[in-house]
Amino acid sequence: RAVALLRAGECVAFPTETVYGLGADACNERAVAAVFAAKGRPPSNPLIVHVAGLREAMALAEFSSAAVRLAERFWPGPLTLVLTRKADTGLAAAISAGLPSVALRVPAHPVAQRLLAAFGEPLAAPSANPSGRVSPTTARHVMEGLGGRIAAVIDGGTCGVGIESTVLSLCGPHPVLLRAGGVPREALLAAGLDRLDVPDPAQPAASPGMLESHYATRAPIRLNADRPRPGELWLGFGDDMQGEGLNLSPAGDLAEAAANLFSHLRALDEMLAARGQGGGIAVARIPDTGLGAAINDRLRRAAAPRTAQEAAPC
Ligand code: TXA
Ligand code: MG
Repeated sequence: RAVALLRAGECVAFPTETVYGLGADACNERAVAAVFAAKGRPPSNPLIVHVAGLREAMALAEFSSAAVRLAERFWPGPLTLVLTRKADTGLAAAISAGLPSVALRVPAHPVAQRLLAAFGEPLAAPSANPSGRVSPTTARHVMEGLGGRIAAVIDGGTCGVGIESTVLSLCGPHPVLLRAGGVPREALLAAGLDRLDVPDPAQPAASPGMLESHYATRAPIRLNADRPRPGELWLGFGDDMQGEGLNLSPAGDLAEAAANLFSHLRALDEMLAARGQGGGIAVARIPDTGLGAAINDRLRRAAAPRTAQEAAPC
């Protein structure tokens, strides 16, 4: 049924090992436009194209030997490679938002793999949340954000990684880490990358998704807190659990913390809304190594001042 809907140009959300994606036929301009519309996503922010494997990916972009090595090491899995797009791929133009590149990923989740195999073509899939909001790690999260705006969601349970893929650009002279994610920086360096640059702030167009504010809860978030202030709920880590709230990982395990991050942020937001007394979320310090870098990136952007669009209820 999902494949029939996708062939008809509809949007279908599906689980990946990172977060749920909002899938659409990547070669159908109208279907891709519907993804942007359902999410309220600015057309300047390009989409990741999901494919079944390296062979399918190589039909869409130029792969250097370094790109092949990384793909062989980390695919299927939470790594997205931004590469120079080939000509005449059939991909909808809107996917790349005017850039000469395309972002490619081979998801590891068995449901995503089965869907790609059955559909037989690339799927464009951003995270299945309204633009600027917290990413979904369950089918229920998808329906809370996009119910009524999409044709279907395939319920594959809770996503195991819990934060989005690492986005690595191999378009320029040196590899650039555009988004910290499920494959830690340390793992990329251990896989033979000799350097890993940060995006050039003078070239914002190269990483259009790096909005200051993203993953916004309704309640304000305060980071690196020592203790909760009156009215605040606590998002703890390890043995740093204070007052009322939730713990990302009582054992201090960063993989467990990543898997719980978005659902705990949603739950604390709902607890505060149910109280109806304002307040906010105070977050314990989280180590910045391994998956901690991606967790802290998401928390920083969740805590950033919101733009008018992102602060609006949706
Ligand atoms: O784990 C994930 O990557 C999930 C699952 C569903 O696969 N997808 C996801 O998609 O997080 P999205 O759209 O929420 O984030 C994609 C990021 C954005 O920051 C976007 O700007 C960036 O990838 N991106 C996509 N295409 C790009 C390109 N050609 N050049 C630079 N950045 C690109
Ligand atoms: Mg997203």
